[in-house]
Amino acid sequence: MAPAQPKGARIVGPWARLKLAWVLTLNAAYDARRLWKHSYLTGIKGRETLRSRMHMTGHFLEYGLSMRSPRAGFGKDRVALLCDDLGSYARHYGWDATCEIMLRTLEAYRDFNAGAGQDIAALDQELGQIAALRDWQGAPLRGGTETVTREEIQRRGKIDFLDFAEARHSIRRFAPGPVAPDKIDRAVRAAQMTPSSCNRQTCRVWIWTEPEAVQRVLAMQSGNRNFGHEVSGVAIVASDLTHWYEVEERYQGWVDAGMFAMSLALGLHAEGLGAVMLNWGEEYPQDQALRELTGIPESALVAVMIGFGNLPETLTVPVSQRGPLDTCLTMNLPLKG
Ligand SMILES: Cc1cc2nc3c(=O)[nH]c(=O)nc-3n(C[C@H](O)[C@H](O)[C@H](O)COP(=O)(O)O)c2cc1C
Repeated sequence: MAPAQPKGARIVGPWARLKLAWVLTLNAAYDARRLWKHSYLTGIKGRETLRSRMHMTGHFLEYGLSMRSPRAGFGKDRVALLCDDLGSYARHYGWDATCEIMLRTLEAYRDFNAGAGQDIAALDQELGQIAALRDWQGAPLRGGTETVTREEIQRRGKIDFLDFAEARHSIRRFAPGPVAPDKIDRAVRAAQMTPSSCNRQTCRVWIWTEPEAVQRVLAMQSGNRNFGHEVSGVAIVASDLTHWYEVEERYQGWVDAGMFAMSLALGLHAEGLGAVMLNWGEEYPQDQALRELTGIPESALVAVMIGFGNLPETLTVPVSQRGPLDTCLTMNLPLKG
């Protein structure tokens, strides 16, 4: 007869269960409290929450404009909200990249409606008043829609991605020496292209490359004990909780940050560097200790660290064999009813 439990299975007694449940509750409360405090579940709280709402509204307009047949005059309520938010944001906090992008988006919306024969005089006047607040010396930023072609998408996207993915390994041996800063910049720029919920771009990354700082950050993390001393750079990837506004979004930050982290790891791979994800599956006291060391704010939901560095000539990596495709993929599962 087969044993009821596989050998070595953890049998947890009633007191241990109670303790585990308590620890789980404390940790869940820690996450919930930070979401409550920093998100705008209960309303706009300041600069970042207002910025988030502007990005969401701007996204709604761009999205609408990109449909096959946008309806002339769609989304008037959102346009009014965005004009209000943009004006008050610029007056309170000054003109920044968010303002620039939102003004471009509103101009694109106005131009579309002018082309569709709508009366845009009031909006045009409002945009004129907002534009008077404009103070922008940075690189040009765009908003609205653009036309792209299949030829361009396919030409620029044409890499053997399966081969690229198969050539990536979690690297735990590194060649000594610093990583070229432009490679880090390019990898982060690629990670910034990761999709994010309503284009809110909630992800933040803190990177250390100075050897002593790298080691101090790595000392907080438990999964690098036998190789951390070889790592040349460490990144902490987080999602900014100030961007979330509904209870149903409570796990969205983990999704955004996980996707961003993967893009960053692939970006480092594309730059010819080695990288390894380093889990941040920690209980709240350790999470607080990391913030104390680094100054990363409580509003940042830390999801994962990434260690990286230059690749040695040859190295040994685990095979990490993936299962057959059917252990992962189910196609066309018959639907019920
Ligand atoms: C969220 C996450 C956390 C991870 N944490 C660690 C870690 O702390 N230390 C480590 O050496 N590897 C870590 N890894 C790497 C995995 O062990 C590795 O991705 C897996 O074994 C597959 O190997 P491969 O990446 O070489 O394909 C982590 C991976 C992920 C996705």
